[in-house]
Amino acid sequence: MDASIGPVERRRTFAIISHPDAGKTTLTEKLLLLGGAIQLAGEVKGKRDRRQTRSDWMNIERERGISVVTSVMTFEYGGTIFNLLDTPGHEDFSEDTYRTLTAVDSAVMVIDAAKGIEDRTRKLFEVCRLRDIPIVTFVNKLDRESRDPFDLLDEIEKTLALETAPMTWPIGRGRDFAGTYDIVNRTVRRLDLENEVTKVSGPEDPIIDTLTRPEAVALFREEMELIAGAANGFDRDAFREGHLTPVYFGSALRNFGVRDLIDAMAAYAPPPRPQQAESRLVEPDEAKMSGFVFKIQANMDPNHRDRIAFLRVCSGRLERGMKAKLVRTGKPIPLSSPQFFFAQDRLLADEAFAGDVVGIPNHGTLRIGDTLTEGENLVFRGVPSFAPEILRRIRLQDPMKAKKLKEALQQMAEEGVVQVFVPHDGSPAIVGVVGALQLDVLKERMQAEYSLPIDFETSRFSVCRWISSDDKLALETFIERHRGSMAADLDGAPVFMAPSAFELRYELDRAPAITASEIKDYQRRAAA
Ligand code: G4P
Repeated sequence: MDASIGPVERRRTFAIISHPDAGKTTLTEKLLLLGGAIQLAGEVKGKRDRRQTRSDWMNIERERGISVVTSVMTFEYGGTIFNLLDTPGHEDFSEDTYRTLTAVDSAVMVIDAAKGIEDRTRKLFEVCRLRDIPIVTFVNKLDRESRDPFDLLDEIEKTLALETAPMTWPIGRGRDFAGTYDIVNRTVRRLDLENEVTKVSGPEDPIIDTLTRPEAVALFREEMELIAGAANGFDRDAFREGHLTPVYFGSALRNFGVRDLIDAMAAYAPPPRPQQAESRLVEPDEAKMSGFVFKIQANMDPNHRDRIAFLRVCSGRLERGMKAKLVRTGKPIPLSSPQFFFAQDRLLADEAFAGDVVGIPNHGTLRIGDTLTEGENLVFRGVPSFAPEILRRIRLQDPMKAKKLKEALQQMAEEGVVQVFVPHDGSPAIVGVVGALQLDVLKERMQAEYSLPIDFETSRFSVCRWISSDDKLALETFIERHRGSMAADLDGAPVFMAPSAFELRYELDRAPAITASEIKDYQRRAAA
């Protein structure tokens, strides 16, 4: 890449969205290999016997073989710096995933060629759509029997309402799969020669006849004719606006087509985008540093009990040793050891630019949704909190440890592991989660980190909403009248709880001055 290109322009901050088993881990591994961030395959998220890995920090994750945590991996390829934000694949962790997607500028959608668009992919895609995040599609597992590529494109267009532009096309499928043809550049990449491309005159080029069975070549040529007649060409604006996805075919396992994908990310995916703060739009190349925390993670290293806040830099230059302002409290916070994360290592970050994600070790000063600046009172939007779908009371096996429990729960709530609601009537705290697996994580961490064995009891409430009103008196009256159903969240904001959705609706219908919300924006709250 041209050396005159500035630090912001050369950054790509993205996530991979996919249904479990589509190949996200394998693809991540191959991307990191290409970027030189790791030497050997199998080091990203070991499954089964290959488990000595970066995210190998929690028993629960090992047992279930899923990546529970969200983290970031930085690597460089061809002069472009990629920040890959790992989104947990498990459905239960949607909250974490949503937050992570607030910190990316583009996404790679991985589809299993035999399965097409699956449920989880669709949901994650919807989140991307809300923010108009451009998507590059990678159709994976072409080395196996797969569906007709036209069918897959059609499915993307129909189920996601997203236009497709095939950029490469498979030559043969399953056992006949011999490589891909690059529609734009008229080159062929052979399965057995992954790191090279051969220039050809077009789909009719005799070189292609030598690659696989004649029937497969004939089918490929027919398909190319169809494409010439019917498929969309790549339109960069439509892609950047999130209306069109370029589609690449390959096999992550065979490390095939991954180069096309990463080249496409470098060439087409947008550099760090401007970020919307409450007061104004913040441009990535502004001189002053700003950023927001989208993730807090404790215990990344079992030997050091540390807590890392992941900050997405939105503008300016973050310099090690600088003092930033934590807008929520107005207090300065020294950035003495910001860190970058690689496949397995963390390194001190001397400087970071818009698009970068740095880890900031802290002891609970930083929370999800916090904004850091060089002085301006900016508040970035859009790191949401969702009304939990499961509410449970905690039963402490040792009642003498109530105070410790309170502290531990507070920390878990600040990290976003669970939400904690303290009932106004003085009854024990209620924890709320979006997915049941979060409860297991909480139990395990309470035991491992605080030596607090806990159990869960059903609560008489099953739904809750944040409530507010422009009419202060109406709000106070509602709270007073429903005292037995009111609780305070981490920040003391009022939460109305009900035994069922029906009762929730019933009570709220009778109080038209009250606004009930399923989503709470961390930052709006912070500014309040
Ligand atoms: P995920 O993170 O999206 O859940 O998927 P992951 O990469 O773990 O891949 C799921 C399974 O699919 C793995 O097999 C993996 O080896 C396989 N896979 C990934 N990419 C390809 C591909 O391009 N072609 C083929 N044929 N298989 C692919 P597994 O047997 O479940 O796990 P493992 O024992 O191989 O780790």
